[in-house]
Amino acid sequence: MLQTTISILCFLLYAVNAIPTAPQPSASAGIDTHSFSKTTEYPLPNLGNVAAHDPNIIQYDGYFYLFKGGVHIPIHKSRTLDGPWEEVGTVLNEASVIEKQNRTRPWAPTTVEWENRFYCFYAISESGSRDSAIGVASSDTPVGGNWTDHGAVVNTGQGAMSEIYPYTVSNAIDGAFIKDQKTGEPHLLYGSYWHGIFSVPMAEHLLSIKTPKKPDATNLAYVPKAASKPIEGSFMTYKEPYYYLWFSHGKCCHFDVHEFPPMGDEYSIRVGRSTNVTGPFVDKDGNKTLQGGGTIVYGSNHGVVYAPGGVGVLSGTGSEADVLYFHYLNTSIGFAQGDARLGWNYLHYVDGWPVAIEGKSSLNATSSESNGRILRPDPTLNSLAMLSMCYSILLHYTSRNSYLKSLVHSSGCAVDLASTSRYA
Ligand SMILES: *[C@@H]1O[C@H](CO)[C@@H](O)[C@H](O)[C@H]1NC(C)=O
Ligand SMILES: *[C@@H]1O[C@H](CO)[C@@H](O)[C@H](O)[C@H]1NC(C)=O
Ligand SMILES: *[C@@H]1O[C@H](CO)[C@@H](O)[C@H](O)[C@H]1NC(C)=O
Ligand SMILES: *[C@@H]1O[C@H](CO)[C@@H](O)[C@H](O)[C@H]1NC(C)=O
Ligand SMILES: *[C@@H]1O[C@H](CO)[C@@H](O)[C@H](O)[C@H]1NC(C)=O
Ligand SMILES: *[C@@H]1O[C@H](CO)[C@@H](O)[C@H](O)[C@H]1NC(C)=O
Repeated sequence: MLQTTISILCFLLYAVNAIPTAPQPSASAGIDTHSFSKTTEYPLPNLGNVAAHDPNIIQYDGYFYLFKGGVHIPIHKSRTLDGPWEEVGTVLNEASVIEKQNRTRPWAPTTVEWENRFYCFYAISESGSRDSAIGVASSDTPVGGNWTDHGAVVNTGQGAMSEIYPYTVSNAIDGAFIKDQKTGEPHLLYGSYWHGIFSVPMAEHLLSIKTPKKPDATNLAYVPKAASKPIEGSFMTYKEPYYYLWFSHGKCCHFDVHEFPPMGDEYSIRVGRSTNVTGPFVDKDGNKTLQGGGTIVYGSNHGVVYAPGGVGVLSGTGSEADVLYFHYLNTSIGFAQGDARLGWNYLHYVDGWPVAIEGKSSLNATSSESNGRILRPDPTLNSLAMLSMCYSILLHYTSRNSYLKSLVHSSGCAVDLASTSRYA
């Protein structure tokens, strides 16, 4: 679950600021549909066919594994991103060992594979509170049943070392992970609202910060000027030569259907990039993410998709395209936290900037990536798409056949494949 963490003060300032520009909902209408963007600038998502808030997905041994906020951190697996998703236990067997807030229902897990073990970073917090922690659990398998809860790696508000900068100014939620490509050093990313997103080098075993009493942290994204600082839920990928810092900006949840925030103030998925793992990250207009910058990659669209966020990216290997995945609300279904659904789109990169594309063929992505401009799909590509589907079906039954697998890879079919991990 993501984290409405507006402090009461910020919320009041926000509400006051919002009044002059807020669209007037008609008194009789149940829902103020004027606040829903009908833009076609972003494609509709492919349906994940599963409820999810703050989804996190890894690929392992022929399956996608989905981790999400929920009681004890539920785990699901599926052969494809479209499901069907099978529940395969939970990360925690009981409440987290971190003694603060509601330890039963951690938020926003991020799981990584690191030296043949799985590490799940999760958050313990409560809406509007900075008394939070990032915890970590580890296991030799991504399914439930054999995870060990190691407790907090970062505390803010209260708890061990919460008096050390930057824990004094930040909020320990929404953990994410990146390996420095030059040094191999692991970094924990975390944070929301207050002082934005931070990156901190971790110990090689991933169970603590590298230098706990002097964390050597770097602020990656921040909104210095506005009263409300609604950035959270970061994720980082590397695609040569850039690190991409993804995050959500805006109001995530607890929407009042009679008065939505002004259009554009709800969640959207933004990105900045840098050649350095610790930044500075800049957006497409050259604005620094430390100065409130961030290019919108995916926002509300078609009058259907509302407040997409909780972003993650599956890095494609070889000719596979990257996959952008996220949760969103469907305006014809509902606006409660439990109504959030998993959606996904392939990405292509134009001049090194990610663009979400329509449809389920990564060929659209890879073909345009090679020459940096958007191509219309042609009949050859469509036949190739069919071929690649056939290969991927075959792959189900021959997952150990590396020749077939390489064929599938080279034909650009990413959805059905697994066994590549993002961080190993
Ligand atoms: C903690 O969260 C669980 C699961 O959402 C809920 O059932 C329980 O009532 C919560 N406990 C408290 C003290 O809020
Ligand atoms: C559970 O994990 C422990 C330690 O990581 C390992 O030794 C053991 O084989 C695992 N058990 C199962 C059933 O996978
Ligand atoms: C990356 O950032 C760190 C500090 O954040 C700095 O020491 C280093 O020189 C930077 N590297 C490059 C290539 O800019
Ligand atoms: C980005 O920079 C331009 C000018 O360089 C400015 O007009 C714009 O407001 C900035 N956007 C953000 C989000 O800071
Ligand atoms: C939104 O919900 C409608 C009605 O259930 C459904 O037909 C449509 O496919 C959904 N769209 C998305 C993007 O979830
Ligand atoms: C490729 O993208 C176009 C428009 O962006 C879309 O209409 C088409 O369905 C996509 N092709 C495939 C095979 O998904």
